[in-house]
Amino acid sequence: MQTISVVGLGKLGSPFLATCASRGFNVIGLDVNRSVVDLINRTVPPVDEPGLPQLIKKNRARIRATTDYSEAINGSDITFIIVPTPSTKDGAFSNKYVLSAIQSIGKILTYKKKFHLIVVTSTIMPGSMDNEIVPLLEKISGKKVGYDIGLCYNPEFIALGSVIQNLLNPDFVMIGQSDDKSGEILENFYRKFCQNKSPVVRMNFINAEITKIALNSYITTKISFANTLAQICEKIPGGDVDQVTKALGLDSRIGNKYLKGALPYGGPCFPRDNRAFIHFAKKLKVSSPIAVATDKVNNDLAYKLAEKINSQVPPGGKVAILGLSYKKDTDVAEESAGVKIANLLSQKRNHIYAWDPKATNTAKPLLSSKVTLAKSMKDCLAQADVIVIASDWQEFKDIKPGDLASDNKRPILMDCWRVLDPLKYKNVAQYWAIGLESTKLESE
Ligand SMILES: NC(=O)c1ccc[n+]([C@@H]2O[C@H](COP(=O)([O-])OP(=O)(O)OC[C@H]3O[C@@H](n4cnc5c(N)ncnc54)[C@H](O)[C@@H]3O)[C@@H](O)[C@H]2O)c1
Repeated sequence: MQTISVVGLGKLGSPFLATCASRGFNVIGLDVNRSVVDLINRTVPPVDEPGLPQLIKKNRARIRATTDYSEAINGSDITFIIVPTPSTKDGAFSNKYVLSAIQSIGKILTYKKKFHLIVVTSTIMPGSMDNEIVPLLEKISGKKVGYDIGLCYNPEFIALGSVIQNLLNPDFVMIGQSDDKSGEILENFYRKFCQNKSPVVRMNFINAEITKIALNSYITTKISFANTLAQICEKIPGGDVDQVTKALGLDSRIGNKYLKGALPYGGPCFPRDNRAFIHFAKKLKVSSPIAVATDKVNNDLAYKLAEKINSQVPPGGKVAILGLSYKKDTDVAEESAGVKIANLLSQKRNHIYAWDPKATNTAKPLLSSKVTLAKSMKDCLAQADVIVIASDWQEFKDIKPGDLASDNKRPILMDCWRVLDPLKYKNVAQYWAIGLESTKLESE
């Protein structure tokens, strides 16, 4: 079995490292952050991801971590680079951390005799491999990519909260390759790594780079379309977006994933990948009105909802936002609908309370100082005039009518993901759901 090194042990790198070990590979993790390395060596996951603690513990004999590039590169056959590629102001991705990792790896490869394969997994802008990464690697290592050393671009198509399952059972594996030998080595790795028999598609760098950002841009388009349908259904007597999207999704040309009319998409990938797609098209002087409209629909939706909430809150009233992570089962709050709405409301109001089962702490630096973080869900709900369910955590599905009925108030309950049964709450709250005309508010 080959030994794998993983450079960058964050939200994707840590689960990838543990999953490699679970499939029998020896793995050396490397991170510039000493505390992340120490955590891994103490078998403590540095990030919150379901199943990760168990996977690291169970496979600890095959996992070690270091900050030393020489140890990681000389001790392994394949290196995956999974470092951040932050968005720049114009919507592109910065390659500075990838290039810094390439520089460190290149130095070690100068002296390494055995063939080594480097795999870039970070999301990068199209053109990065050929124009930046190959030239730097060849310059620093003094070796020729595709002959002396191998190079692949191999992004993962995972969703936080189900990273391990997604890694093990991908719909497909995509390999952008410098040459056949490199692609072959990586394909063989995936034949052992994946639990399913997913197709492996191999291509040149540029097509793999375009596919990566196109995929997320397409998914965001689907989400914005479903969210538009929800607004249409809300306006028409009898309209129910779930009935429409469930039927639509049965058509195999459409499919049911990411087709639930609800809140704006968020998180560390979708918004920025779609913006990167727009940027890329613009650079080529190709207009991409679909991607632009998708982004606009997404942004407008948060404003529309904030306006609606504002119109329902009495002067001095309290709003409770439940859900700050960008989706359930993760503590990641980046660009989440809950955070956006809380911040928009706080521009006009004082009494905005928010709570999340996991993301209260991670959301804190993203929230306006005028938003109060509640200590518990009960604390958040107490005396609220409007309650907004902004993500579909199980904890919110478990809210009981009695949890709302404590203070003789009949709050407005805005169920943005339709996780509750309207009939159960009609005595204790004015129930409203996105995309469901029958739940129109009394004042509308
Ligand atoms: N998180 C996701 O859902 C997801 C999904 C698909 C793709 N990606 C892509 O994967 C990449 C990593 O994302 P993430 O969410 O895991 O990032 P992250 O911020 O969670 O973690 C990145 C890690 O890399 C380390 N690092 C930074 N520079 C380094 C260097 N030069 N050498 C070694 N370590 C270094 C950091 O200390 C950090 O621990 C990004 O390009 C992202 O777009 C992420």
